[in-house]
Amino acid sequence: EKDGYDHFMLKEIAEQPRAVADTLLGRIGQDGRLALDEMRLSDQELRDINKIILVACGTSYHAGLIAKYAIEHWAQLPCEVEVASEFRYRDPILTRDTLVIVISQSGETMDTLMAVRHARGQRSRVLAVCNVNGSTISRESDAVLYTHAGPEVAVASTKAFLTQLVACYLVALYLAQVRGVKFGDEITQIVERLAQTPSKVSEVLSTVEPVRALARSLADERCVLFLGRHVGFPVALEGALKLKELAYMHAEGFAAGELKHGPIALIDRGLPVVVVVPSPSGQRVIHDKIVSNIQEIRARGARTLVIAEEGDDAVGRYADTLIHIPAVPTLLQPLVATVPLQVFACELATAKGHDVDQPRNLAKSVTVE
Ligand code: M6R
Repeated sequence: EKDGYDHFMLKEIAEQPRAVADTLLGRIGQDGRLALDEMRLSDQELRDINKIILVACGTSYHAGLIAKYAIEHWAQLPCEVEVASEFRYRDPILTRDTLVIVISQSGETMDTLMAVRHARGQRSRVLAVCNVNGSTISRESDAVLYTHAGPEVAVASTKAFLTQLVACYLVALYLAQVRGVKFGDEITQIVERLAQTPSKVSEVLSTVEPVRALARSLADERCVLFLGRHVGFPVALEGALKLKELAYMHAEGFAAGELKHGPIALIDRGLPVVVVVPSPSGQRVIHDKIVSNIQEIRARGARTLVIAEEGDDAVGRYADTLIHIPAVPTLLQPLVATVPLQVFACELATAKGHDVDQPRNLAKSVTVE
C-alpha cells in the first residue's frame, strides 16, 4: 500500500501534485470562470454574506489562517479565524449573513463539529471544506466543498492541507466572481496561475534534497524556530507543528515582525531558524524587512534554512541552506513553501528513529472535545 515508500507520509507528500490537480478538476471552466454549484449555496446567498469566520483545528486551522488573507484580498470581505475549541466558548457575533467556513480533513473532529452545531444554532450558514465524503461534519453543514486528496493515512496532515488551501482559494475567488469585486482582471489571472500549481508542487518536490541533508544534521538539536510574514506566517506555524508532532522537538513559529518584540532573545549560537521569505514581486517592503531579520539572526550566530523564490538573489548570502521554490503569485505561495517543511519534519523525525506515520500520543482524527 505504501507503493515502495518507507512511510505513508512520504507517499502522501509525493502525491501532492495529483491531489492538488484533483481538487481543481472540473471547477475551472474553459472560459476561466469558476463553477462551484456543488457547494449548494446560491450566488444570491453568497452576495448577502457580510462576514466570514473560518473555524478549524491544527493543520486545518493553519489553512484557515491562509484563507483569511485570500478572502480579504480577493473577495474583500471581513474575515476572522478561530480555533474550533475556543469558538463556541466565547460569544462570536453570528447572524444570518455570517458564513462560517469549517475546515476538516476527517470531517469527524469533535471540536469542529461542535462549532458547526453552535453556528447553525445561531442561524449562520456553514460551509464545510472536507476530505471525507459523507463524514459527520459534511452531513451536518449547510454546504460542502470536498477536497480530493484521497485517503490520508499518516497522522501528520500533508496532502490534505494542500488541497484545503486549494479549496479555500477556490471559495475566495468564487466569492470575488459572484460579488463582482474591483480586481476582475487579477482574479482571471490568478485562476490561470492556480490551474498551473500542480506542476509547481512537482517542481518543488524535485529540489528538496538539501532539506533532507540539513534535517539529518539537526537530529540532536532541541529547538527549531520558524519565521514568516504575510501568508508565510501560517506556513511557519505549520512547519513548527509538523516538527512538534513528528520529531517531538520544541518548535515555534513566529510572524517575523514580532521577532524584535521578544523572540529575538531566544536566538543563540547554532540555533536552527527556518525562514519563509515572501516573494520579492509581492509587497517588496515585507520581503526586504525579512531579509534584514535574516541578517540580524545570522549576526547572532543562528543557522538559517531559507526558503525563497527562485531568482531572489538578495537572500542567498545569509542562508546556511537555501531552498528555492518556484515563483507563484504571493497568496498561492503556501502551496509550494509548505512542501520543504513537511520533508524537513519527516526526515528529522526519521533520523531520530521515530515512527513518522504514528507519532506518540496522537490520533488521526480527534473525536473527543
Ligand atoms: O481532520 P481534521 O482536519 O479536522 O483534523 C484537525 C487536526 O486534528 C489535524 O490537522 C492535526 O493537527 C494533524 N495531526 C496535523 O498534522
